[in-house]
Amino acid sequence: MKAQRMDRSVAIAAREYAPYLEATWGFKNHWYPAFFSQEISENEIKAVTIAGHDIVLRRVHGRLFGLRDKCAHRGARFSQEPMCLNDESITCWYHGFTYGLSDGVLKTILASPEDPIIGKVRIRTYPVEERGGMVFIFVGDEDYRPLPTLESDQPPRMTDNPVFPYLFDENVFSRGIHRTVNSNWRLGMENGNDPTHILIHRKNFYVVMSGSKLPLGFLPASPEAGKFIEMPDGQKGVWGVNHDHYRPIMENRYLGLSVPKPVAGPRIDTYRISSWMPSALLVEDFPGSEWSTIEWYVPIDDTRHEYWQVALKLCRDENDRKAAAEFYETIGLPIGFENFNEIDLVARERLQQHYQDPEQFGQEAFFAGDIAIVSWRKLASRFNRGIQAAPQQSER
Ligand code: FES
Ligand SMILES: [Fe+2]
Repeated sequence: MKAQRMDRSVAIAAREYAPYLEATWGFKNHWYPAFFSQEISENEIKAVTIAGHDIVLRRVHGRLFGLRDKCAHRGARFSQEPMCLNDESITCWYHGFTYGLSDGVLKTILASPEDPIIGKVRIRTYPVEERGGMVFIFVGDEDYRPLPTLESDQPPRMTDNPVFPYLFDENVFSRGIHRTVNSNWRLGMENGNDPTHILIHRKNFYVVMSGSKLPLGFLPASPEAGKFIEMPDGQKGVWGVNHDHYRPIMENRYLGLSVPKPVAGPRIDTYRISSWMPSALLVEDFPGSEWSTIEWYVPIDDTRHEYWQVALKLCRDENDRKAAAEFYETIGLPIGFENFNEIDLVARERLQQHYQDPEQFGQEAFFAGDIAIVSWRKLASRFNRGIQAAPQQSER
């Protein structure tokens, strides 16, 4: 009887975020990061898969063009053997079909320059924008218009906290890494903003060496904790841990555990986390004081995501930039991104074993600490611009 009641309440909660449960391949019609700008040099060809879309990029005269990475003739992928014979096109290495970079139209065939199908066949193109040292691609329906702004799909400037940098600030120092994680993208999103997963960080090098004790977790302390954040430029987010809306839990009597209050330690009053559509996390005051980190969990396919970590710091001059670079190389990257966050990757991949069956999303026994995850699911269900379907074999 008890079990039945529980099942029903789980089902009711899950109905409130039904679209999210369908988003195994991510949400379509959003901007996603694809590369750091410096990863694609002039004339270089790069391939990326986002939410099941195989995309090839070429940079010509500084500008980037994105096309479907599949030849209309017999399906060869351009990126498998890049061939470009002028500045306006990309040529398939197999039989020489040559497509315009900006419109994807078949312009010529190497061995059949008068062929009647020239001009009548095309492959799709993708909008590409390059800002703040990063390359973003708009992934989804080819005819989706109007194109939303790039800003609307990134964590916003947190105007009430002007000391913190914004991704597209002119004088921002930004540096980071990205790598592939073997879990569904939602397990990335739901790891970053999870207020009680701090448990997995307790053995972290920095935590142990500094003698600081992490709380046992965080619980919501105000109704604001689960509210949507809607920003003027269209960004939609929800709070993860922050010190206005959450309180640290320092004791568990059943287990006889209590965490000593820190005498001194890193400033944590401005440390706060928020999640943003379609797949980003903003962490203010990490990996150092007055830094921010943006993480993205970009769906690749149904079982992998590209995990991005980008550190941001406002710099007034060249000296600031040098200091920021040194901090990033000696602390931010090795101790923050690599050491501290390593266990997050392990956790996501471990959970993937369970969520391999996508039906498991929505079946969880959520508790009070999961409000950030539940709110995120509701937000994503409400503000997505479409659910990405699994690619048909013929489309890939
Ligand atoms: S498969 Fe590309 S030209 Fe034949
Ligand atoms: Fe974490």
